[in-house]
Amino acid sequence: MAKAKKPPDGIKKPRILIVTPEITYLPSGMGNMACKLNAKAGGLADVSASLVAALFDLGSDVHVALPHYRRMFHIDVGQLISDELRVYKSRLPDSRIHLAEDRCFYYRETVYSNSQNENPKLALAFSREVINNIIPTVQPDLIHCNDWMTGLIPAAARRMGIPCLFTVHNIHTHHLSLAQIEDSGIDAAEFWGNLYYTRVPYNYEESRNNNLIDMQSSGVFASHFINTVSPTFLEEIVNGWHDFIPRALREEIRNKYRSGCAAGILNAPDPSDNPETDPHLDHRYNADTHREAKRLNKLSFQRKVGLEENPDAPLFFWPSRLDPAQKGPQLLTDILYRFMSRYWKQRVQIALVANGVYQQPFHEILRFHELYGRLAVCDFSQALSQLGYAASDFTLVPSLFEPCGLPQMVGQLYGSLPVVHDTGGLHDTVEHLDPAQDKGNGFVFKIYDSRGLEWALDKAMEFFKRPPEERERNIARVMRAGQARFNHEACARSYIDIYEKMLNRPLVRSFE
Ligand code: GLC
Repeated sequence: MAKAKKPPDGIKKPRILIVTPEITYLPSGMGNMACKLNAKAGGLADVSASLVAALFDLGSDVHVALPHYRRMFHIDVGQLISDELRVYKSRLPDSRIHLAEDRCFYYRETVYSNSQNENPKLALAFSREVINNIIPTVQPDLIHCNDWMTGLIPAAARRMGIPCLFTVHNIHTHHLSLAQIEDSGIDAAEFWGNLYYTRVPYNYEESRNNNLIDMQSSGVFASHFINTVSPTFLEEIVNGWHDFIPRALREEIRNKYRSGCAAGILNAPDPSDNPETDPHLDHRYNADTHREAKRLNKLSFQRKVGLEENPDAPLFFWPSRLDPAQKGPQLLTDILYRFMSRYWKQRVQIALVANGVYQQPFHEILRFHELYGRLAVCDFSQALSQLGYAASDFTLVPSLFEPCGLPQMVGQLYGSLPVVHDTGGLHDTVEHLDPAQDKGNGFVFKIYDSRGLEWALDKAMEFFKRPPEERERNIARVMRAGQARFNHEACARSYIDIYEKMLNRPLVRSFE
């Protein structure tokens, strides 16, 4: 990638402000305590971190705005005048990290709340700080917003004459009135005409109290360009495939698409998702050495999660949120006992390292059928999850819909072949395996129901029974191809291309 040079006198590099409610890490050169700033609910955190890191490495003038989750950032919240906080507050003049200050963020343990009333309050506090303080301080040339929590910002940015890119990571939204927005301290009267309402607004006064604003659709409507996180998900929305996508959001995405202002950019796993360097693994490996190392990792993982210790047992791994509206865990609970009974003699194992409302049914099945040693249900932890990829033979991602999805890519990098439903980003990244022809990289079912999943699981078990040389050859091939293709520089490059198109000038290249 190109190295940035100092711009000639008088010419400034365009300044990009990335606004995100989640981040996995920030590059250490970006500002005070960058290494502490970790707040993750899902893939949005990983993707934001990778993009910021890539832009920073490239030498571009990138800034980040995120809520100040003091507790999640391990700031001692009990000691407000501690040295740590003082360091934190005395921001370096050239800091590129801008923390939105509001008490509602300080004591939280998670990014989002289970109480649906609380999330809009968090979004309003975040938007208020970004609109009233962070944008005027940073004075960006372009703002990049992510998902509904940031949905009001493009409307305000349009009023300020700043172009905005809005990335749609998921379809969730919230509705708020102008009155609620103004009560939070945002002067929405300034940009009310750029927001998306439930019905066409007649004027400001009649809309203020009872014509609700759709946050995600407002983000799409008011921004200058949008992107989804995979090309197929964009096509599915535009072609009206998913009837559960809110109509307003679908129409606004279609409008952007038809005016040539929408793209699908596939996310990429972080460069740290590499079995050769991953600090969470007991035995690191690459495509050439995967066989023995994966057996040893399987033994460590089985010991940690309470499964029977057997390196020859086929192991299926579930890494993502147990959310029945999107991720399809109910397909697995439907057939879990039947599937495990069918392959009982082969000593099949399933491990879940995931949280979510659907964890409980798995616990119940485990207890009722006494599947101890064969089924493990664990809370999410980054370390256990990384070891899970390295230990397992197969990664399960049977989602109803998937804007992009990272686990099916990480699985390939770690030699754990994905079992997926043919949708969205899963369609773009997984092709059904033909081991004899050395083609494909996973197991893909077309019809979203438990029979579909069962069919794909049977195909995975057929592959598991193939001669070891054939299996190893295919796994090594999938690992190599994944490494070459799922590349975060390529992903960052696509975002830079959009920024440059929107700004009509290069981010850094002209200074070489
Ligand atoms: C959301 C989507 C997921 C995507 C991630 C990052 O979590 O559900 O498909 O990979 O955002 O964009």
